[in-house]
Amino acid sequence: MCGTSRFVVQLIVILYTAMEVCSKFEFTNIQCTSLDKEFDDIEYCYIKSVNRSYKYISIKVKLFKTPVTKVNAALYQRLNGYKPFLYNITLDACKFLRNTDRNPVAKYIYELFNGHSNMNHTCPFDHDIILEKLPSNFLNTRLTDVLPFPEADYLLETHWYAYNVNRAVIKVYGTLS
Ligand SMILES: *[C@@H]1O[C@H](CO)[C@@H](O)[C@H](O)[C@H]1NC(C)=O
Ligand SMILES: *[C@@H]1O[C@H](CO)[C@@H](O)[C@H](O)[C@H]1NC(C)=O
Ligand SMILES: *[C@@H]1O[C@H](CO)[C@@H](O)[C@H](O)[C@H]1NC(C)=O
Repeated sequence: MCGTSRFVVQLIVILYTAMEVCSKFEFTNIQCTSLDKEFDDIEYCYIKSVNRSYKYISIKVKLFKTPVTKVNAALYQRLNGYKPFLYNITLDACKFLRNTDRNPVAKYIYELFNGHSNMNHTCPFDHDIILEKLPSNFLNTRLTDVLPFPEADYLLETHWYAYNVNRAVIKVYGTLS
């Protein structure tokens, strides 16, 4: 009897704690822009809502010339308009992919989408870049469990460079509520 009620109390505490931290991440918008059609083109770039619990983004960038060498990623949080928030990193894509442990922040961002993309291979990127069906739910776990973020609207803006010229911009919007 005593054991049972302690178990029930523990269960309630666990459920309560789970509810407390149960923020939910959702994609809200995505924009992909090619800045140089000679260099790359966006074949597709969209959010799809399959049902209430399954929403994902897919992106395919066709590269006509290679290589992409430099990537800048900056995180924004919306207050009055989107303001830079915490992270703004620029890195050499090839050096980074050779050893992701050297840059923990970039690694964290990279691991948000790596498993759903074809980016895990050695340089140079000499073929199309694909991000396929990255679900909100997956980011939900990473953003709320691994490194908790405050509830707000966010924008992850990435710039893709080749020969030091910005060739494409990908903006992913989401909300944590
Ligand atoms: C949502 O769609 C996915 C994929 O089709 C399916 O596996 C899942 O069961 C659906 N969820 C609900 C709540 O309908
Ligand atoms: C990020 O840093 C780069 C280089 O220092 C700068 O040009 C860019 O404006 C910064 N972006 C944001 C959002 O602060
Ligand atoms: C790529 O995948 C392999 C095996 O799945 C893994 O050992 C390696 O660490 C990954 N590399 C990167 C850069 O994520």
